[in-house]
Amino acid sequence: MLKSGVSFLRFQNITLSCSNKSYTLLHCQTLSISMAPHVLIFPLPMQGPVNCMLKLAELLCLSGISVTVLNTDHIQRTLLRHTNVLSRFSRYPNFHFQTISDGLPHDHPRSSERFLEVCEGMRTVTEPAFREMMVSGCFSSKSASPVTVIIPDGSFSFALDVAEEIQIPLIYFETVSPCALWTYLCLPKLIEAGEVPFNGNDLDVLIRSVPGTETFLRRRDLPGFYRIDNLANHVMQIIMNEAQHVPRAYGVIINTFDELDASILVHMRNLCPNIYCIGPLHTLHKNRLAVASKTTTLKQQSDVSNSLWEENRTCLSWLDMQPAKSVVYVSIGSMARMTVDQFFEIWQGLVNSGKPFLWVQRPGSVLGEYDDSQVPQNLVDETKQRGFIATWVPQEEVLAHPAIGGFLTHGGWNSTMESIMEGVPMICWPFYVDQQVNSRFVSEVWKVGIDIKDTCDRVIIEKAVNDLIHVKRDEFIRSVKPLAESGAQSVAQDGSSYMDLNRLVEDVKSMNL
Ligand code: UDX
Repeated sequence: MLKSGVSFLRFQNITLSCSNKSYTLLHCQTLSISMAPHVLIFPLPMQGPVNCMLKLAELLCLSGISVTVLNTDHIQRTLLRHTNVLSRFSRYPNFHFQTISDGLPHDHPRSSERFLEVCEGMRTVTEPAFREMMVSGCFSSKSASPVTVIIPDGSFSFALDVAEEIQIPLIYFETVSPCALWTYLCLPKLIEAGEVPFNGNDLDVLIRSVPGTETFLRRRDLPGFYRIDNLANHVMQIIMNEAQHVPRAYGVIINTFDELDASILVHMRNLCPNIYCIGPLHTLHKNRLAVASKTTTLKQQSDVSNSLWEENRTCLSWLDMQPAKSVVYVSIGSMARMTVDQFFEIWQGLVNSGKPFLWVQRPGSVLGEYDDSQVPQNLVDETKQRGFIATWVPQEEVLAHPAIGGFLTHGGWNSTMESIMEGVPMICWPFYVDQQVNSRFVSEVWKVGIDIKDTCDRVIIEKAVNDLIHVKRDEFIRSVKPLAESGAQSVAQDGSSYMDLNRLVEDVKSMNL
């Protein structure tokens, strides 16, 4: 691969004729060769962000851009164990995986309750190692394949400091929702206005310092991290850093489409003028792969999973036996967790609803122990009749299945987008990160579901399931269908997200000239 920016001389023979004599001149021209751009994609080591970033990586490969994905050793090992990611990406000659340590021992659970240890490992080990890679190591300007653009997770403020030091452009990929990102970017104003930390315990006080949300966003709908007593909190510092760094980047990539988040984007663009809205990303990715398999030698791959757990695909044949729109799908993503009491309240609420349910009980998602003798016999019997329990499933295929009538979710952004695009209404039971904000938008702005945040009670869950599947179903479907349609239009040819991806590709290519 040629080094970028190195000049070469090109010699040409030029014949001049003058007074019937011809002279041959050796014409020397200086050319500066710019090599193909090389993008470094650097995901936050969690299922949601890794899922998004691998989809973006493949979209850039399809556009002929050289891409390296920098995963932590743990994420890479787990991906290789549960997916065909290596063979899938081996189809792109200009694609590479690179790994980096997260500073934690092999057997560290990397769970949400020990998330601060993950942050500490990133800060003490990953950040210096990343800087070395970029300044003098395998991605530096002295290397055989210098990185020309960095696309890291929006929470990696350190990456922008390195990019500015070595003077290469950085485009953040914010894998949380735009509505939550907006509450991050407004954190300095929230603090200045005395709205964070909260003054008093009333969580239903409306928030005034997040433009575009003044009529419906309450304290309880802000990111769970904001429910703190003092600002010295480590996570608040990470968000404060993000709020100060993101507007300094060359641009911000977000997994949404204009019609869904217009009310937020109009304000966000005042702070971050260069936003690439490329969502619904999973649909855009699927569409572009389908086109590539028809127009190039690239073979269509049926399995495009990026799962960090083994997928139980037998749930799909169980769904085949259920009536249309009858099943409640239950999953709280890759990091959220519940107590044993909450586990039994959800279980009892699902059984009391009388509806069939498909429940993803991810390993580590229940904090604390319980033994089978504690499980009431009626739960066991009813679940045998109408339930299917799995540790992990192919969620995009599950949500697309005709038997699915509703989704009891934690409100992670990928799950929210996937549910909207399949026209599946949601019950949101948020845990942390952006989920509180997402669940408020699901219920109050997009009106495609029910927000049960800060509760966990079998009666509330039973009622929410019945409202979702029966009582209010038509109302939710009237709202979610048009959103799904505009999402599909945005990723179709000449749609807003389709065009923003093209603009991103052109910008990445032009940065290297
Ligand atoms: C994390 C944060 O928790 C979330 O709030 C933020 O928006 C993104 O980063 P995660 O908790 O993993 O994400 O949730 P989500 O964003 O919903 O991503 C989960 C992904 O795993 C989805 O793409 C979903 O399709 C997939 N999934 C989930 C499966 O493939 N199988 C499952 O059984 C469950």
